[in-house]
Amino acid sequence: MSQEAWTEVDHYLTEALLAPDPTLDAALADSQAAGLPAINVAPNQGKLLMLLAQMTGARRILEIGTLGGYSTIWLARALPADGRLVTLEYEPKHAEVARKNLARAGFADQVEVKVGAAIAALPSLEGPFDFIFIDADKSGYPDYFLWSLKLARPGTVIVADNVVRAGKVLQPGNDANALGVRRMNELIAAEPRVAATAVQTVGSKGWDGFCLIRVK
Ligand code: SAH
Ligand code: DHB
Ligand code: MG
Repeated sequence: MSQEAWTEVDHYLTEALLAPDPTLDAALADSQAAGLPAINVAPNQGKLLMLLAQMTGARRILEIGTLGGYSTIWLARALPADGRLVTLEYEPKHAEVARKNLARAGFADQVEVKVGAAIAALPSLEGPFDFIFIDADKSGYPDYFLWSLKLARPGTVIVADNVVRAGKVLQPGNDANALGVRRMNELIAAEPRVAATAVQTVGSKGWDGFCLIRVK
């Protein structure tokens, strides 16, 4: 099967199971208009994040890597009225687009976009978070995993995106992103306080995968 077929099936699944969503469409349109890269999660993956956060009963969510706030909106939808989400973004322009998208989606008061390197912001955060989505620079994943653990409580669910990258994880060479994912996996495997698995995916974003971690 080919990329074309994966994309067609993703479109079918999205049309079949996801309601039309003008808020998310507008977030993507404005992200594109501002020149942001189209590397947000796919709609069906975004809804998976929302469902996982809901299943966790998440009231406090942390996201590392905001971009234009597309995945952030999905995650914020999982929150109860008094729930809170903190999202970390290095690029000021991305953060500005995200803030507008989040405000239009009705989450201005519930979501805080923190600008700067995630590794600088993480020590200033107060946990525990119930659900954490790791999706910034993949070279930072080992640090983001360790910080997520510090900011977690028993039962916290952590999802890390892009852990396969078209199979690059097998042949990392000098690729800092693939090496980051492999190092994170080593840390996870050596960490008795978590249980984890990873799943490969194909779809409109190609061949990739995610890691799913539960803190014991
Ligand atoms: N979660 C988003 C996509 C994130 S793309 C979605 O699915 O909609 C990755 C984002 O991480 C980019 O916006 C990039 O600027 C940001 N990023 C890269 N390095 C970073 C760092 N060191 N700290 C925080 N954010 C970073
Ligand atoms: C890239 C980043 C992502 O988070 C993603 O889901 C896909 C691609 C990237 O940096 O190329
Ligand atoms: Mg990603």
